[in-house]
Order: sequence, then structure tokens, then C-alpha cells
Amino acid sequence: MCGIIGIVGREQVASRLMDGLRRLEYRGYDSAGICTIHDGALERRRAEGKLDNLARELVASPLDGAVGIAHTRWATHGAPTVGNAHPHVVDGVAVVHNGIIENFKALRDEMQSKGRRFESQTDSEVVAHLVADQLAQGLAPEAAVAAVLPRLHGAFAIAILFRDHPGMIIGARLGAPLTVGLGDGESYLGSDALALAALTQRIAYLEEGDWAVVTHDAVRIHDRDNNPVEREIVQSGVSAAIYDKGNHAHYMQKEIFEQPVVVAQTLQSYVRPLEQKVALPQMDFSFGPVPRITIVACGTSFYAGMVAKYWLEHFARVPVELDIASEFRYRDPVLEAGGLALFISQSGETADTLAALRHARAQGQKIAVVVNVPTSSMAREADLLLPTHAGPEVGVASTKAFTCQLAVLAALAAKVARDKGRMSEEEERDIVRHLSEAPAAMNAALAHDEDIKAMAHVIAEARDVLYLGRGQDYPLALEGALKLKEISYIHAEGYAAGEMKHGPIALIDDAVPIIVLAPSGPLFEKTVSNMQEVQARGGKVVLISDAEGIAQAGEGSIATIEMPKVHPLIAPLVYAIPVQLLAYHVAVAKGTDVDQPRNLAKSVTVE
Ligand code: F6R
Repeated sequence: MCGIIGIVGREQVASRLMDGLRRLEYRGYDSAGICTIHDGALERRRAEGKLDNLARELVASPLDGAVGIAHTRWATHGAPTVGNAHPHVVDGVAVVHNGIIENFKALRDEMQSKGRRFESQTDSEVVAHLVADQLAQGLAPEAAVAAVLPRLHGAFAIAILFRDHPGMIIGARLGAPLTVGLGDGESYLGSDALALAALTQRIAYLEEGDWAVVTHDAVRIHDRDNNPVEREIVQSGVSAAIYDKGNHAHYMQKEIFEQPVVVAQTLQSYVRPLEQKVALPQMDFSFGPVPRITIVACGTSFYAGMVAKYWLEHFARVPVELDIASEFRYRDPVLEAGGLALFISQSGETADTLAALRHARAQGQKIAVVVNVPTSSMAREADLLLPTHAGPEVGVASTKAFTCQLAVLAALAAKVARDKGRMSEEEERDIVRHLSEAPAAMNAALAHDEDIKAMAHVIAEARDVLYLGRGQDYPLALEGALKLKEISYIHAEGYAAGEMKHGPIALIDDAVPIIVLAPSGPLFEKTVSNMQEVQARGGKVVLISDAEGIAQAGEGSIATIEMPKVHPLIAPLVYAIPVQLLAYHVAVAKGTDVDQPRNLAKSVTVE
């Protein structure tokens, strides 16, 4: 989603702001803009589409100035045009905004009734008018911002530049992240530590409702009641080198190939191989009395939750409810006293999941969070924090975060089972052993990259693709379809294999490839029967299975992709790889923008 960067600098900032915007590209955007103060004036350049367009604008018409703000916009209100791109400039006030001002219509009407004219269709422009209006009434910038912030409903991170106060930027956040950075005689604002990675490692994360006055040598932070507050300065540890793709053509490819390492890294915090025990980073939490677990997430993280439901019910015999975050909070769910609500998120900032978390807390649930960004809002609001150690995920399509989530959730399921007395020590040892085998098995799956690449053109020509799986491979079918849709723009659906004959089988003809995920094991025969029903109707099957499964059922498939033979527990971690690689190679064959697919944002901070 939208990205913000601001620099109160000593030297020219335009190129550094552009560099910061490039680091924010991964969040997804469809227009961009930049504004600096120079010779007592606000100067602005904006462009539709990719940052290269803005870069061209800047070459044609360079911007001077040592203080400035910049923005990548993911359109919510108003099309992604130059006129709607940020910064919005009104009477010497420039504003960039991430989030949604839900009451913008009422505020705009109020400003218009005072004779103010609006130039864009955005909700964001009203912030510039409100601040300018306060300044016109004689307030200083700090007082103007303090007066405006309580009037904004919804979620926002904003940065404001004042023509008549050239040595400062004011930033504020509520429901969308914003960090401040401290440099040498310079200070910064950024949507995340990545945006500031090339400028500084010393950062502070603003808390909900905070606003900050950022000047050359100081950052003054206030809470939502305008009291001065201190926020801890931490070393971000995010190096600018994250933006090195190494030998890979895309971040997504790099992140797919990183999975054995980051899953191993994650497991180090969840299993003790010598003692052969699962262990959570926070051991003071007992699951024994928990009567029910409610899992809530969006997108790929939701599919990780679906797999976890199988594991938690199977191993721990605890009832699990599972919901998409945007549905959960509005359907008035019944939450049992003493229940645990488990939220899964790569970013930890997804607006729907965060709102669901707060709803569950208000209903008296204990809050557990599986999250990849340890400084995120969800991480900070958790009673039980279960971090994944995937490292920053830059490709918009989630890959390594997903498999790391699965690793954490498998360990969690075993821990819950142990606490509930439903798993013996010996079974726990088995789980630890299988989980420890996962990184090597994932490596073996990656070794089939070339085979997958070689058959990707078959899928690239299709208009529709179906993915089938059963049991814990059903969520993988959904995940495979999602990956293909989002980066190759081919229509794809995932189905529980047994559900085909209840409707979707009508779609089958020889133009629809069907990807079947069927590791040999307990559900293999059933899945293969469903696969044969499809083949009998002319369906072109690609079978993903192990050597044994392919030997038994591969005949008649248009292609087979061989996976190592693994224990069912780790099959989802291993089978994630071929579906990711398939989507990746199909997208490359189609020539789409793999890392920044159209219309998508990495961190979805609006509902
Ligand atoms: C798909 C994808 C999205 C995210 C979803 C939730 O590849 O990345 O579906 O999984 O937007 O995001 P997080 O996990 O950050 O809450």
C-alpha cells in the first residue's frame, strides 16, 4: 500500500527521496510524487504508474531542496492519475497520506463551505485543507496538527511539510505504520525501516495516535493526548543490501529459493533438536485450559491457518474456528470465554486482521500472533508472540513467509497437544524429527525448478486453471491458485478434490489444465479417484506427487512434477514450493511484473 518517506536534510534530498520510494515499491502503488522546499516555495513533481515515470519527470525538471516528502500511492479514493497523486499542496502545506480518512466527505463539505476548492478526488487532500485552515487562523504548525488529528476518523500515517517552516516535517500515525529515523544532523520519516535503510539504522516506531515533529537535530514525539513522550530508539538491523537480488531475476524467485534456510532459521526458535522437544519462544503460556482456538487471517496467511486447523484438530483435539479477517469482525462471532484467538500475518499491519485482533481482544480472547515483522502493530499487541524468521519479504506474492508460518504452526500444534496431554513424548519426538527434515526436503523440491520451468508454457497458454487437493493439501490447492492468479493474471481456482463432482467438474474440457497435489499417503487413493474422474472427461492433468505416487497414478497426465517422499506433516511445506515455482515461471513466460503485480499491495493497510 501507500509508502511515505520524509527527509529533513542538510543536502539535496530529491535523489534520496527517490531511493526511499524505490525501497517502498514492494508495497504496491500506482502513482507517485515528491515535494521539496526550495527558496521559500513548495515544489512538486508527480507521475502516474511506475517510479521510472517520476524519475523521468525529475530529469526533465529537477527539484532542489534539502527538506522534502515523497509518496507512492495505491489508489483508494479516485483513480491513479497525476491529479490524485500525493503530495497534496494547499496554501503552503504539503501532505502525503497512507490509509483512509473515513469521514472525509463531511470534512470536505465543511472546508468547501468555507470557500476552499479541492483539486483531487482523494480523501487525503482534506488533511492539507484542514491544516491550512488552522494555520490561516493563526495557529503554529504543531498546534494546527494537534487540532486536526482528532478530527480524522479511519486509519492514517501522514507527513506534512510547511512552506513557512522549512526546517521541519510533522508526521502522525493511527492504524497505519510510521517510523522516525535519526541521522547525523538529519532526521527522517518512513513507512517502515526498509524505506530508511540507506539513511539510518537508528529508528523509533511511533505508537498508535503518536505524532512527531521532525527537525534537523531532534525528533519530538507526542502521544494522542499531546503529551510529550519518549519512544525507544532501536537499531533497525535492516540493511540496504536486502535490495540485492543476488543471482535471481526477481525478488520472488530469490525468496522462493531462500525457503530452506529461513524455515531452518525459524525452526531454531521452535524445536530443541537435542532434547527432541517443541518449544515456543514464550514458554510461560499454557494451552491446557484453552477450550477453543479461533484462527483469523487474510490471503496466503489464511491458507496457512487452514493447514493449522488440520494440525491442531488432529494432534491436539481442540476445536478450531477459522475465518477470513474481513468476514470475522462483521459476523458477530461467538467467542468462548478463555478462548485463544490466533492471528497470522506476514506484515503484521493488514488492516482487516488488525481490526479482527482488536475485536477479539475486546471479546476477552487471549491473543496469539504469528507474524514476520517483529516491530509491527500485531506483534506489539500480542499476548503470545510467535515470530517467523523469514526476513523481509519484498516480492508482493508471499512465499517464504508462508512456509515459515507453516513451520511455526506445526510446532504450535504439537505444543498445544502436549499441554493438553494429547501427545506422548514419543510422538513429540517424531514431530521434531519430521520438522527438522523439512529444510532438506524443501531443497530437494527446489531441485525440480528446471522441470517446472520447462512445462510452464503449457499453463501460460491457458485461460483457466484448476488446482485440486485433499485434506491439508486442499489449502495448498487454494494457495497455488492464488499465486497463479495474482502474478500471471490467469484465472485459477482451488478445490477440495472431492468437491469437483458437486459442480466444478462441469468446467472440465481439454483447455483447462488441472494441477493435482497428491503426495502418496492416507488420502492418495481418494485424490487419485477424483483425478481420474477429471481425466475421464478430457481434463489435462499435471500431477504433483512423489516417485511412488507418480508410478501409481502418473499415467495419462500431461506432466508430472516429482517431490521427495515426506511425512504428511511436512508435506504442505514441501508442496508449497512447486506451486510457487509454477506460478513464478508462468508469470515470467507471460512477461508480467512478477514482483509488483498490477493492482496489488504488499501490506494491505486499508479495509
Ligand atoms: C498473496 C499475499 C496476500 C497476503 C495477504 C495478507 O501472495 O501475499 O494474500 O497473504 O494480503 O497479508 P499479511 O500476511 O501481511 O497479513
